[in-house]
Amino acid sequence: MSVTALRGAAITFRDDPFQASPGDCLVHEPDALILIEDGRITAFGPYADLRESLPEGTLVTEYKDAIISAGFVDTHVHYPQLPMIGAYGEQLLEWLEKYVFPVEAKFADPEHAAQVAAVFLRELLRAGTTTAAVYCTVHPQSVEAFFTESARFDTRMVAGKVLMDRHAPEVLRDTAQQGYDESAALIARWHGRGRQHYCVTPRFAPTSTEAQLEAAGALLKTAHNLFMQTHIAENRAECAWVEALFPERSNYLDVYAHAGLIGHRSVLGHGIHLAEQDFCTCHATGAALAHCPTSNLFLGSGLFRLFDAMDPRRPVRVGLGTDVGAGTSLSQLASLNEAYKVAQLTGRRLSALQSFWLATLGGARALYLDDRIGRIAPDYEADLCVLDLKATPLMRFRMPFCESLEDQLFVLMTLGDDRVVRATYAAGHKVYDRDQGCFIYAGRHDPC
Ligand code: GUN
Ligand code: ZN
Repeated sequence: MSVTALRGAAITFRDDPFQASPGDCLVHEPDALILIEDGRITAFGPYADLRESLPEGTLVTEYKDAIISAGFVDTHVHYPQLPMIGAYGEQLLEWLEKYVFPVEAKFADPEHAAQVAAVFLRELLRAGTTTAAVYCTVHPQSVEAFFTESARFDTRMVAGKVLMDRHAPEVLRDTAQQGYDESAALIARWHGRGRQHYCVTPRFAPTSTEAQLEAAGALLKTAHNLFMQTHIAENRAECAWVEALFPERSNYLDVYAHAGLIGHRSVLGHGIHLAEQDFCTCHATGAALAHCPTSNLFLGSGLFRLFDAMDPRRPVRVGLGTDVGAGTSLSQLASLNEAYKVAQLTGRRLSALQSFWLATLGGARALYLDDRIGRIAPDYEADLCVLDLKATPLMRFRMPFCESLEDQLFVLMTLGDDRVVRATYAAGHKVYDRDQGCFIYAGRHDPC
């Protein structure tokens, strides 16, 4: 078995810096060696300590002026919306009608789905993201295209077919039964195949009848460790609509809870307009929220109260989501830049260590995958990104003024984006190399 060896500065987390002292949560090796065999990390520590254990003849790839991190985790993103990212002028409900639905309708064509999935997955890797919770469209072929592409790069992905049986154009509607059957077939085909996980995906309460939400709840019982993703309390008009559509439910979260959709591996996008009682329910049930700052600012949806959600008395699992196409970047560094500003506008300070935890181990925890991804540690899967501290002329100028690792990380998230990612590794294989200008899979080098 061949050994891959990476040398460079590295950071990772052993615990949650929202709950414990950030200094105790961080692991920082200024000159680390990471050994990888068969897709997993077998050793991680100071180069000086581990160099002896290097098998003879092992080639060591050294990254200078860089920080090696666990790959980023994006807990909420729509791959079919990549062709309409940056669409002007509307807020959520009008934006869906005007821009999203027409673009999603094109995924009836499997060739179109394959083309967009290929671009999307490569853009994720270019951004250093190695795991994402991904919405496909109502068409099963959109899911097929996405998992096929993910399997090609051996990335660990969570994805599913959107369920939508009302309040959408006819070409984008299924029925409760059809949605159930198509999802069940995709579960049988993809869930647990290699590194792929299936996610039952009712778009949001307004586009599913009660019968469809119940069918989604039933689907979750058909296999082990299925995921569920949907949207909640993103926009005030959406919240009022849900109240009118479900008068018998006590609140928005209860619409989903009543259908059996809330628990471990449930990922709720946004949650801007949730109440304290809802945070308590998320904590008690183990459901996660996806904080999507670039999207929330772009659509004018509001300010997510991250520090309320993370209240140590009843912490909610929170991950970071790009929510492209409402989000304006697939880079989690760009998301962190905006998350910092959203926190400022709510009177709180989001530190660099909290930020990088959110983008890595926090996201993995939100997805209940923190036993295998999100950290650099022995036995963890070798999903990594290499962040260039001097990626742009301004960063090259700014970095020498940093006085600490925290300063450097904060500059990375403030000035950085995909340009910062020098290389990305999935299951121990380099799948993206910025300086060679290529994506790599199955021995092939595809130019970027
Ligand atoms: N709510 C329901 N569908 C969507 C979507 O596609 N994007 C966002 N941001 N919110 C939604
Ligand atoms: Zn979304």
